[in-house]
Amino acid sequence: MKLHSHAPPPSALIFFFTTALLLLLLLHPTESTQPPYSCDSSQPSTSSYPFCKTTLPINQRVQDLISRLTLDEKISQLVNSAPPIPRLGIPSYEWWSEALHGVADVGKGIKLYPTIHNATSFPQVILTAASFNDHLWYRIGQVIGTEARAVYNAGQATGMTFWAPNINIFRDPRWGRGQETPGEDPTVTGRYAVSYVRGVQGDSFYGGKHKLGAGGRLQASACCKHFTAYDLDNWNNITRFGFDACVTQQDLADTYQPPFQKCVQEGQASGIMCAYNRINGVPSCADHNLLTKVARGQWDFHGYITSDCDAVSIIYDVQGYAKKPEDAVVDVLKAGMDVNCGSYLKDHTKSAVDQKKLKVSKIDRALHNLFSVRMRLGLFDGNPLNQPYGTIGPDQVCSQLHQALALEAAQDGIVLLKNSGRLLPLPKAKAISLAVIGPHANALEALLGNYHGPPCKSITPLEALQGYAKNINYHPGCDSVKCPQAAFDEAAGTAKEADYVVLIVGLDQSQEREELDRLHLGLPGQQQELISSVAKVAKKPVILVILSGGPVDISFAKHNKNIGSILWAGYPGEAGGIALAEIIFGEHNPGGRLPMAWYTEDYVKMPMTDMRMRCEPKTGYPGRTYRFYTGKKVFDFGYGLSYSNYVYKFSSAASQNKLYLNESSISPTAKSSDSGRYQLVQDLGGEFCEQKKLSVRVRVHNHGEMVGKHPVLLFVGEKKPKNGRPMKQLVGFKSVILSAGERAEIEFDLNPCEHLSHANEEGLMAVGEGSYFLGVGDAKYPLDIVV
Ligand SMILES: *[C@@H]1O[C@H](CO)[C@@H](O)[C@H](O)[C@H]1NC(C)=O
Ligand SMILES: *[C@@H]1O[C@H](CO)[C@@H](O)[C@H](O)[C@H]1NC(C)=O
Ligand SMILES: *[C@@H]1O[C@H](CO)[C@@H](O)[C@H](O)[C@H]1NC(C)=O
Repeated sequence: MKLHSHAPPPSALIFFFTTALLLLLLLHPTESTQPPYSCDSSQPSTSSYPFCKTTLPINQRVQDLISRLTLDEKISQLVNSAPPIPRLGIPSYEWWSEALHGVADVGKGIKLYPTIHNATSFPQVILTAASFNDHLWYRIGQVIGTEARAVYNAGQATGMTFWAPNINIFRDPRWGRGQETPGEDPTVTGRYAVSYVRGVQGDSFYGGKHKLGAGGRLQASACCKHFTAYDLDNWNNITRFGFDACVTQQDLADTYQPPFQKCVQEGQASGIMCAYNRINGVPSCADHNLLTKVARGQWDFHGYITSDCDAVSIIYDVQGYAKKPEDAVVDVLKAGMDVNCGSYLKDHTKSAVDQKKLKVSKIDRALHNLFSVRMRLGLFDGNPLNQPYGTIGPDQVCSQLHQALALEAAQDGIVLLKNSGRLLPLPKAKAISLAVIGPHANALEALLGNYHGPPCKSITPLEALQGYAKNINYHPGCDSVKCPQAAFDEAAGTAKEADYVVLIVGLDQSQEREELDRLHLGLPGQQQELISSVAKVAKKPVILVILSGGPVDISFAKHNKNIGSILWAGYPGEAGGIALAEIIFGEHNPGGRLPMAWYTEDYVKMPMTDMRMRCEPKTGYPGRTYRFYTGKKVFDFGYGLSYSNYVYKFSSAASQNKLYLNESSISPTAKSSDSGRYQLVQDLGGEFCEQKKLSVRVRVHNHGEMVGKHPVLLFVGEKKPKNGRPMKQLVGFKSVILSAGERAEIEFDLNPCEHLSHANEEGLMAVGEGSYFLGVGDAKYPLDIVV
């Protein structure tokens, strides 16, 4: 390692680096531990170029760099594996890395060897979302960004652009990738996006000053994907490659787009990935309106846009949208895409230029975005180990602090769905005997979901439970979650003798994953029969634990008296087994709440391809998500019990019952077709809405005997919604810690333009006249809006 003489770090740091380096060299004498970077000051022939001058604005540096490239060099940079340009001292760069819920080695940019082998593996996102705690999400993002930088500093990364978060709405419970998302609600998904991105990218660069925006430095780069309306992988052989999502302007405006808008505007994400699917006939990577007019224009996006992998080739090969390969290249570069995961742009851009279909200026535009991000990552500033993020060492990866956060996330996400007769928590007496049964009882890999790397720690639920009860009998019940043939007799035999029975069942990646949507919502194979037969012979009602990303129809268990308690643990990550055991034995009070409703099997009558959120009574179409779905649910969105009992009350003094928006002198009231009057948000104006903000106060009282972290969810609803407005909509959430008997008052600020508006049929946000209510749990507060 070389340390700069002109910018010496503090001597303690030098000592640390030197020692760490010596150790590394001793351990791995042959492996390079040097991170790749440009503008090496020991190479005066290349480091004297203007693009290396850190005093110049990034804009100018990038322009200088692009001006030095030949056409072939330019084209070579348009794909995810960008080759080196040795004559300019530029190393290769890999755009594709993954960090969905922890740094992973499933992309091409990260290698977990030779120094760092593991990374903190947080719960799969759907479970983390269940904490309804955006500060937790932010801290997870920070850890991921820090560990990513440590991997780079150790010379194990050829890229620092991570293709996460996945912020598509979990529109249909069958979706195999729903597990990767924060659920079915746009408010939660938007706030998750902002927290994750800010954490990963590091918005406190240089001593706490917020340096977001175009020129801001990046610890690591996050990418909002998949833009947009992507939420079908492979359902009945209809694949994401061929699927054309028919989306109304109304649904686009208040369901599919808001998380992306937040991710860009508030999160200041430095990347966007366009999706495989078409939207109303246009492939998303070829959609100029989407990429350039909306994202870059309306939302002021500064960053790079990548295609999903091979999403450019399918525009010609599968979708037939482009007549020739060159046309696909022209379409995406003109639309505003910058880099192609795959090799299509490498192979066909030159001939598109030769055929005069494409101007080089379109390539330069893309390169400008790409090199700006590489520069913001500090990869053109000389040795990155001498820069502020350069001090992040391998000791920070899998640190005690990071692993404690993985445990906290699992503890706070796990949802208690049923607890009859207060069966849980179990008594903490070593003498009790426990039967632990089910295909997930000894799960390890399944705990991690998908897009995971090697975790810091591995412990199965069974092993974790052994810390609490000495006398445990275990039987898997089935040979896998597919459970074609359950071992009824052996499982029953194991259950009969025990004081308590814990069944651990559910789904895994063989049932729901990328490229595999489910066809049914029940438990696979004979799992249900196994559970019922064990419950029947057990001494006491049993405890059922479900591991799954998507919802499962467990109506049978909800109504079965022999099943006393049910927990949903998502895919809870490296510390998930411990969190489960702690909850079962009362060391932690569960507070998670479902980030999506759990539907009954009836749901699957609706084709997965129907993208409409709103129901249509005349054809029997039931709509989507808790906001619109009119069919049966097993558990609603936001449902979740606790070992404590929380009581809510609106502090009416602080609120008003009427909101007068008719005082806006700016514009007349609009009238819609079915008699509901409304005002467009764009007419009301930001200033007016700011004046009309409501402060809503809710008192929360922990009536129980146990301390708990409890997310308070505030909804706005209408008895008779008009104009395609939802039955209810989450507008705020805050997590509070309350001791037994403790009360707190929580304040929510509601801005009518943001929290009380919905899209009209043209896709414009509007506030409608009507009798609304605010709701927290059973507490309701009427609110009339006059326009
Ligand atoms: C989907 O396609 C595969 C392979 O082409 C075929 O084996 C399978 O039966 C098809 N499934 C359905 C549900 O059509
Ligand atoms: C850490 O990574 C190594 C290398 O991939 C793997 O063999 C090991 O099992 C991982 N540790 C844990 C606890 O999973
Ligand atoms: C707004 O509507 C209320 C109730 O209909 C009415 O009393 C009030 O005068 C209106 N205000 C304006 C400025 O028109």
